[in-house]
Amino acid sequence: MVNFKDLGLVNTREMFAKAVDGGYAIPAFNFNNMEQLQAIIKACAETKSPVILQVSSGARKYANQTLLRYMAEGAVEYAKELGWEHPQICLHLDHGDTFELCKSCVDFGFSSVMIDGSSLPYEENIALTKKVVEYAHQFDVTVEAELGVLAGVEDDVVAEESHYTKPEEVIDFATRSGCDSLAISIGTSHGAYKFKPEQCTRDPKTGKLVPPPLAFDVLEEIEKKLPGFPIVLHGSSSVPQEYVDIINSHGGNLPDAVGIPEEQLRKAAKSAVCKINIDSDSRLAFTAAVRKVLVEKPGEFDPRKYCGPARDEMVRLYKHKIIEVLGSDGKAE
Ligand code: G3H
Ligand code: 13P
Ligand code: ZN
Repeated sequence: MVNFKDLGLVNTREMFAKAVDGGYAIPAFNFNNMEQLQAIIKACAETKSPVILQVSSGARKYANQTLLRYMAEGAVEYAKELGWEHPQICLHLDHGDTFELCKSCVDFGFSSVMIDGSSLPYEENIALTKKVVEYAHQFDVTVEAELGVLAGVEDDVVAEESHYTKPEEVIDFATRSGCDSLAISIGTSHGAYKFKPEQCTRDPKTGKLVPPPLAFDVLEEIEKKLPGFPIVLHGSSSVPQEYVDIINSHGGNLPDAVGIPEEQLRKAAKSAVCKINIDSDSRLAFTAAVRKVLVEKPGEFDPRKYCGPARDEMVRLYKHKIIEVLGSDGKAE
């Protein structure tokens, strides 16, 4: 058993309270490997942005949970080495689906866990969330819950259609479950194909897909029901067209990839949304940079020569999100 405080990590309580008050959102970036983690920490240290490092159960399987935990511990030291005096780094389980998985992360030094009971019937979602909250709070670990269903793939769960969160349920859910933050469904979804082409219109000039707007009316109703309560947006990658174009012109094939336009995320970040989850954009940045090097230099076989540029591209991406979209720069000096 190790407590997150001994690792120099923080939970989400204070960072969310400040973000709600200040009208900005905390970046929640997923990581699976060293380059992603280095890029996240470098971008956050250079911008002095608080950050949530997210580990999915897929990441745990890929990278080994012990190694991931030590990497997060190392990340705190790396941040200090980069001159970030008081790093505000949270280590968070993304889409935990069982009490046992959440417990194991709490026991392992995570400072925050998500219990995703969104695919369960309402009462079962409350009961499972409450059980995780009761355990996690003993160690001051904060808990994110989810109400409403996002379309697309969430690890092993696939939902064909999204079901918006019902504003009339949020007070009862938050009160009875005791969760610290709530992920809602207002039209975002995971991955690089957030909307089917038939849900979009086409820009007549570029021929690119223009996605439908998020359900801000639902978000506003939720905010009215739970004033000041931290709201989370999953599936918030914007799928930058320049990365898709580089991938497609260097041997890749991502037809009609489409994400959430950044102006909509900017608007969300100013509201009660205080955590914005981004994973796919980092995957796209990495893949675009690697494909470019391998096509331009076919003789290259040193991974540092293509993972290095991928890491640099991810630093640019993370800094852009922090400064231009979420507004979290300068909030953790
Ligand atoms: O929620 C989805 C995240 O992007 C994590 O993805 O399950 O493939 O690691 P993953
Ligand atoms: P994206 O696939 O839009 O990056 O969403 C990531 C996410 O929600 C992780 O939980
Ligand atoms: Zn998610």
